[in-house]
Amino acid sequence: MKILSGVQPSGDLHIGNYFGMMRPCLALQEKGETFLFIANYHALTQLPAPDLLRSRTYNVALDFLACGLDTGKTVFFRQTDVPEVQELAWILSCLTPVGLLERCHSYKDKVTQGISPNAGLFSYPVLMASDILIYKSTLVPVGRDQKQHLEVTRDIAIRFNNRYGNILVIPEEQTADDVAIIPGVDGRKMSKSYDNTIEIFGNEKVIRKKIMKIVTDSTPMEDPKDPDTCNVYALYRLFADDEQDQIMRRRYQEGGLGYGHAKQALFERYWEYFRPLRERRKALSKDPEFVQGVLRDGAARARACAAATLAEVRKAIGLQ
Ligand code: ADP
Ligand code: TRP
Repeated sequence: MKILSGVQPSGDLHIGNYFGMMRPCLALQEKGETFLFIANYHALTQLPAPDLLRSRTYNVALDFLACGLDTGKTVFFRQTDVPEVQELAWILSCLTPVGLLERCHSYKDKVTQGISPNAGLFSYPVLMASDILIYKSTLVPVGRDQKQHLEVTRDIAIRFNNRYGNILVIPEEQTADDVAIIPGVDGRKMSKSYDNTIEIFGNEKVIRKKIMKIVTDSTPMEDPKDPDTCNVYALYRLFADDEQDQIMRRRYQEGGLGYGHAKQALFERYWEYFRPLRERRKALSKDPEFVQGVLRDGAARARACAAATLAEVRKAIGLQ
């Protein structure tokens, strides 16, 4: 089994990223060879300021190391340190029908929001397919919103293999079944692009304020409430063990629990949950050489693997 995932350095990582992607991915590193990269080429589709892109890339590296990435088990690298992925992306783009990309929800959503799309944003799924296929990944843990991109990847890989022989490995996705899309403070999907996030390593006061602002309905305090339609509960249960979860459900259903209390309980769980990770991150931030060394080492290992696949592909399609 070869496990691979990527995360864009498009802002501070939030608990949607953590429960949707990081935690499942870090759990899998115990089960097989894992590749994990920081998708800085993908982040370029939004043209961030150069210094911001650099610092976010570094911060994502710190975040993953603090959250338990084991450098003995996981090859951890920056996407741009493996330029071979761009060549394969070009090759794959020649096998990709435009209609397939036009149907991608994440592209369509961004266009609907009024973002004027650049060609990079449109062909984003082809680069993602290249990321996955170049390492011959078999399992790709991603949040649900990325499922369609995995289907596109499989589609492209099948087209390639049908035409040129069985070179690429058709990957499976793994989405965390118990974790739906994590809602943000406004009830929409938590996302850096919606300004509704709760960061993993946020400042205590700032996060408390954000949690207190989570949108709820206006059921009076004494009335029973439905936990399953409440954003506060949806977040609370991520941090609670079974017993704490059952107690909270009961308190909702019995009535007498104000949303303010539920929010306070959520903040406390959140803060305790990430405490050890926060401490680890603080220690790591004092050792930038270590972080850069991890990325350099990861890049060398990833590049060797990518170069081998690209050589096979070039030969099969007649470029060599
Ligand atoms: P964002 O929407 O904040 O820009 P990304 O698109 O960079 O997040 O997502 C990084 C990873 O985290 C992806 O695998 C994605 O599916 C997962 N993820 C992001 N937001 C959520 C969420 N709200 N719930 C579950 N998973 C999420
Ligand atoms: N598109 C993914 C996201 O926004 C990031 C990503 C890029 C990725 N390449 C990948 C995820 C390859 C998994 C595999 O979250």
